[in-house]
Amino acid sequence: MARLVIVSNRVASPKERAAKAGGLAVALREALGKRGGLWFGWSGETRPNAPAEPKVVRSGKVMYALQDLDPEDQRAHYAGYANGTLWPLCHYRLGALSFRRTDWEGYRRVNAHFARALLPLLKPDDIVWVHDYHFILLAAELRKLGFEGRIGYFHHIPWPTPEVFLSLPSHAALVRDLAQYDLVGLQTENDVRALLTYLSTEARAWIAPGGVVGLNERRFRVAAYPIGIDADAFVKDAAASVGSEEEERLQSSLAGRVLAVGVDRLDYSKGLPNKFAAFGELLNHYPQHRSRVTMMQIAPLSRGEVAEYRALRRELEELGGAINGEYAEFDWVPLRYLNRPFPRATLAAIYRASKLGLVTPLRDGMNLVAKEYVAAQDPDDPGVLILSRFAGAADELTGALLVNPYDVEGMAETFDAGLTMSREERRERWGANMIKVQTNTIHNWCERFIADLSQIADHFAEAPEPGR
Ligand code: ADP
Ligand code: F6P
Repeated sequence: MARLVIVSNRVASPKERAAKAGGLAVALREALGKRGGLWFGWSGETRPNAPAEPKVVRSGKVMYALQDLDPEDQRAHYAGYANGTLWPLCHYRLGALSFRRTDWEGYRRVNAHFARALLPLLKPDDIVWVHDYHFILLAAELRKLGFEGRIGYFHHIPWPTPEVFLSLPSHAALVRDLAQYDLVGLQTENDVRALLTYLSTEARAWIAPGGVVGLNERRFRVAAYPIGIDADAFVKDAAASVGSEEEERLQSSLAGRVLAVGVDRLDYSKGLPNKFAAFGELLNHYPQHRSRVTMMQIAPLSRGEVAEYRALRRELEELGGAINGEYAEFDWVPLRYLNRPFPRATLAAIYRASKLGLVTPLRDGMNLVAKEYVAAQDPDDPGVLILSRFAGAADELTGALLVNPYDVEGMAETFDAGLTMSREERRERWGANMIKVQTNTIHNWCERFIADLSQIADHFAEAPEPGR
């Protein structure tokens, strides 16, 4: 069996406990552990002119290779092009998009630097699986250095429609290098359609059935691989939380009131101001819920080095304060707003105790929180998932109440519908969602992508000859 090499900007350190590392990191570590492999990425350290010599640490069957970065390169790559240009672009936030040539050059330098550091560790028959928008150019840089083996890429965030993608000044160069992967995985069929349309109309590529693309001399495949979660782990953690000390603390703090929960990184793609406004609207227009519903928004701080994220933090503090100022009673605070991370077991307990799961991003690749909320419910008396139609998860979780997060009054109306829904309807909707969450797990997702990448030559052989 070929060795698996995973590349990601953040690497869960070998010492990190599984529960803390998060679902994706655990699944990748498991996939690596099974077949033995290498995990390569940024060390989290910066130092001036860091040479392309990763620190290599072995833990069981997995080798970790961690590369330092020059501080200015790291800024241009992470805060600059990855999170100041690509993130807003892929989340349809053109107003927040900043493009600087120095950032684009820094992004290219970091991709080239990582390729130089990785190449000496690679064997010709390795399967290399690159994760996310930080490394779109990595395959091209590895090819320049002579690596001819299989390289796959998974884009965890949305792929924008051609009209939006064309706003990126470097769109043509980015896609020319993306074509150096053998397999490009996206979250949804919508994303696949968006990229294939760009490729055929703008890049003049030919597309064969099954998503095989011919661009200049290259052939590669584009397909959807909707990511899942470790459903069993959430089921177990949530069930174990019943009667725990933590659950009792939570219930006693609620004093019999209903809980509605939101769990999102503090990111402008998550639509948090709209969610807060919709909760305010619920209390305003449906006064029967005052003093009866508590909303808890868990929003760990993220990417504070980017100005938009700092501005969002200030905005939410103001909005949250205004809601509490207007509606709080001496024995009830409507909105609990927490900026801390929590262990998975605590999140599972909070999901289970919540009658509403509020997942209302303006745009999201998949949104794992939606799936975690479903997995954590009591099958006998489940809560209601309120889900943005602009989250990738909306394709699969058809039992959710779908909302348009730009329609604040419509969201408040849907919150009310969720709070008053019959138990029978809740069970039916939850059942439809849970089947999807349990069928398409993170483990199946990993296996499917790796199997397709391993056999990529078969897909190319089956595709008809070019003929646009
Ligand atoms: P994104 O990748 O954009 O952050 P997702 O919803 O797909 O959004 O994934 C977020 C992941 O981070 C989920 O697995 C969720 O449980 C985890 N997470 C979010 N907030 C917290 C928190 N406060 N503590 C611990 N984990 C969190
Ligand atoms: O969903 C995109 C993503 O990059 C995830 O892969 C990651 O868990 C999350 O955003 C956090 O981002 P960062 O690494 O910038 O903190």
